[in-house]
Amino acid sequence: MTLAFSTARDIPTEADVVAVPVLKGGTAPAGAAVEVDEGFLAARGFKGDVGETLPLLADDGGTILVVGVGEADKIDAEVIRRASAAAVKAAGKATTLATTLLDVVPAGVDRAGAAQALAEGTVLATYRFVQYKSESPDRPLERVVAITRAGATVDKALQRGAAVASAVWLARDLVNEPPTAMTPRRMAEMAQVIAGNAGLDLTVLDEKQIVAEGLGGLAGVAAGSDEPARLIKLVYEPSGRVSGTVAIVGKGITFDSGGLSLKSGDGMMTMKDDMGGAAAVLATMSALPAIAPKVRVIGYAACTENMPSGKATKPGDVLHIRNGKTVEVLNTDAEGRLVLADALSLAVEDGVDAIVDLATLTGACIVALGSEIAGLMSTNDDLAEQVRRAGERAGESLWPLPLPDRYRKHIDSPVADIKNIGVAGKAGTLIAGLFLKEFVGDRPWVHLDIAGPAWADADDSYIAKGGTGFGVRTLIELLSTFRAPR
Ligand code: BES
Ligand code: ZN
Ligand code: ZN
Repeated sequence: MTLAFSTARDIPTEADVVAVPVLKGGTAPAGAAVEVDEGFLAARGFKGDVGETLPLLADDGGTILVVGVGEADKIDAEVIRRASAAAVKAAGKATTLATTLLDVVPAGVDRAGAAQALAEGTVLATYRFVQYKSESPDRPLERVVAITRAGATVDKALQRGAAVASAVWLARDLVNEPPTAMTPRRMAEMAQVIAGNAGLDLTVLDEKQIVAEGLGGLAGVAAGSDEPARLIKLVYEPSGRVSGTVAIVGKGITFDSGGLSLKSGDGMMTMKDDMGGAAAVLATMSALPAIAPKVRVIGYAACTENMPSGKATKPGDVLHIRNGKTVEVLNTDAEGRLVLADALSLAVEDGVDAIVDLATLTGACIVALGSEIAGLMSTNDDLAEQVRRAGERAGESLWPLPLPDRYRKHIDSPVADIKNIGVAGKAGTLIAGLFLKEFVGDRPWVHLDIAGPAWADADDSYIAKGGTGFGVRTLIELLSTFRAPR
């Protein structure tokens, strides 16, 4: 993926396609750079809904691509993202696409944010996972020119959007790789490549070190697998004054069969995506030099398969987590919380100012919020609000869920300190959150259950069927604006 973004005051003659916005009702915005015949649009049934497109022949033989942007007062970064995605999908064989979409950004909406969204929507709409296809479709588009009078600001934001999108692209690739290709060892190799390119500090614990360091949750989940586990730690050190340290922690189950509490065949079909949290962490780390946040960032990815075998952890077994707590494992399919328990304990030891974890943790979260919204649980309202707002700006939906003390008793164990499941069919997402809370000490912490949005069942706008890279945009936005939570 190499798309070049630039700005210009006027439409360049080499543009094959010029994408122009049209509002709901088929009206061109006031002062539009390109005139369109509203009567003609009406005759063709063009309504101006977000993402609707209609190609028109221009006087000079080029193509004017009319793109719907919906109602004027509802236009925000996400509308620009979706409209840009629609434009690039309808741009056909164009090599240079010019766009006047930024003309419709209302005065109250951040211009830079909209320009960033333009680049994100454009790049991500071209995403395809073609690694294993004998024939891959050609992608002729090379250049995108945003028509604007605010050249410098917009140009900077476009480059930032391109950097964010390429991180999301990487996260999607990591998730979409077959589980036997993207093993914990391969994840560690990818982390090594990322660390090399981005100048990050890398530590990888192998299976022996995982045991030696007391990461009993990770080792316990890995016990049934022939593939060895890896604990990956990446550190980004900002140049200049440091405004704090944030740990981002990802669940990295490269395949979740359920272990001895085996899943059904259907239930396993998408379980290569169970490292979507770890993928988001690695991908976010890869983008940090380009984004240059003022905060130190420590990325953890706890990677293992979850497999059944004669060596696998059995229901009834007790595991010793890094922070000293013991866990009775009653369902080996509730494995994500076990590997996260160790990684969160390590993040606490680092003395960070905030911890954000991302995990495809519970099917219950999909029941509650569907496949496009992540659940957000937290021990700190200020941090929760920072993360939620970052998600909003990034175009990723996060919905707050509680961590009720009254349900803590559901994970009481007769044998160990806690058990890894609650009561069947009761608040499974909150129970998982309460479980994780046992390992974050007094650190401000946000848990994002991304079981739904990490995977898309169908193409939709700038999302392609498969791994979505969910969380990367939110994390980058959060880290760019982070301040120590109160
Ligand atoms: N990886 C799954 C959660 C999941 C399910 C993600 C469906 C995406 C789609 C997780 O490890 C799991 O199996 N959780 C169990 C927990 C239960 C045994 C308490 C679940 O959700 O059923
Ligand atoms: Zn599971
Ligand atoms: Zn899982």
